[in-house]
Amino acid sequence: MTETGTPRFPRLLVTGGAGFIGSCFVRDVLARKDGTNITVIDKLTYAGNRANLAPVDADPEQSARLRFVAGDIADQTVVARFAAEADAVVNFAAESHVDRSILDPEAFLRTDVLGVHILLEACRTEQERARVGARAAAPRFLQVSTDEVYGSVETGESREDDRLEPRSPYSSAKAGGELLARSYFVTYGLDVVITRGSNTYGPYHHPEKLIPLFVTNAIDDQQLPLYGDGLQRRDWLYVADHAGAIGHVLDHGVSGETYNVAGNNERTNREIVTALLEHLGKPWSLVRQVADRPGHDRRYAMDSSRLAALGWTNTMPFAQGLAATVDWYIQNQDWWRGIKSGEWKDYYQRQYGARLAGSREAR
Ligand code: NAD
Ligand code: DAU
Repeated sequence: MTETGTPRFPRLLVTGGAGFIGSCFVRDVLARKDGTNITVIDKLTYAGNRANLAPVDADPEQSARLRFVAGDIADQTVVARFAAEADAVVNFAAESHVDRSILDPEAFLRTDVLGVHILLEACRTEQERARVGARAAAPRFLQVSTDEVYGSVETGESREDDRLEPRSPYSSAKAGGELLARSYFVTYGLDVVITRGSNTYGPYHHPEKLIPLFVTNAIDDQQLPLYGDGLQRRDWLYVADHAGAIGHVLDHGVSGETYNVAGNNERTNREIVTALLEHLGKPWSLVRQVADRPGHDRRYAMDSSRLAALGWTNTMPFAQGLAATVDWYIQNQDWWRGIKSGEWKDYYQRQYGARLAGSREAR
């Protein structure tokens, strides 16, 4: 947004806009009613859900500014067509679940690395068109990355210039994608910015991830599979704060820079599970200690003073965000019960069948 209230990038191409964080970004930008037009490209994988954009569809003024394209970011034809009409590209599209990357890494390379390459090439074509006067300026490219690229951080807080030491197929693919994006800034002078967000939570979060899995299982009095000793630490960031920070970096970030987006709410998994069960009024006896995730990162923590210096502050207090999230899952059971059917049952069996069979009571 500029000082006059008009958007800096009136036409956005948002990839992965039917997923958890991408759909929040789309809903929040369109709800500002500042005239921004958004094209979403989303492959609608098991994690994508067109219904995540239902609040936009319900408002004629907003829905008139949304174009939804069911497509793959690794498909050059689709991407080229819509990049040609965009002032900026915000790439949320990814395979995003660490456990699935351990079961089946290849899809992660295709989307999180090759897909980023295809998007960057489309921006480079647009840069060339700008050079010959066929458009005003090349699109800005924002790559949404993750704190997991730093690897497990036993003490202290990762800073943007720290070494990247990803340890899972997911985080390695994400590191590949963001390094590629950075290389297009260095090599071709493309306008690239990168964000690295911490563990995000909130409404519309796919039930494969810790918080929504445990909340939805607990609602049904199902077992809660806690990996290992449950003392792994994550830094929790509310989804609207994460999406807002990405929008802030899009508008104000320095070209070529990377920005950590921290939540500053570090908790052990046990602390999270305790808080969820308390809010739901469910017993700890639902929790089962199961075989750990292979290569499980023990802790993530980031310093986000660079983003603070850019003028961004999170607004959601953790206890309030967590309570609102649990309440959303209680009130939106059709949304997650639909997802927890079909493909889900095979995945659940593959991921948790043997683990739960060999589990023990978690003390
Ligand atoms: P998500 O899995 O909920 O959503 C991903 C979306 O991308 C889905 O809508 C899916 O259909 C779409 N998609 C997947 N492959 C695609 C392809 N080839 N082409 C087009 N669309 C495709 O993920 P999320 O949690 O919303 O994460 C969004 C981004 O933020 C990802 O890049 C992720 O790495 C990053 N991130 C997530 C977190 C978190 O805690 N969730 C934290 C930091 C960074
Ligand atoms: O840190 C940012 C990352 O956060 C994002 O880049 C990823 O896209 C996102 O999925 C998330 O990754 P994590 O692996 O940290 O999230 P997940 O919800 O899978 O797990 C959180 C913690 O809970 C982790 O220590 C593993 C543990 N866990 C998870 C599941 C699904 C369990 O103990 N049991 C479970 O069943």
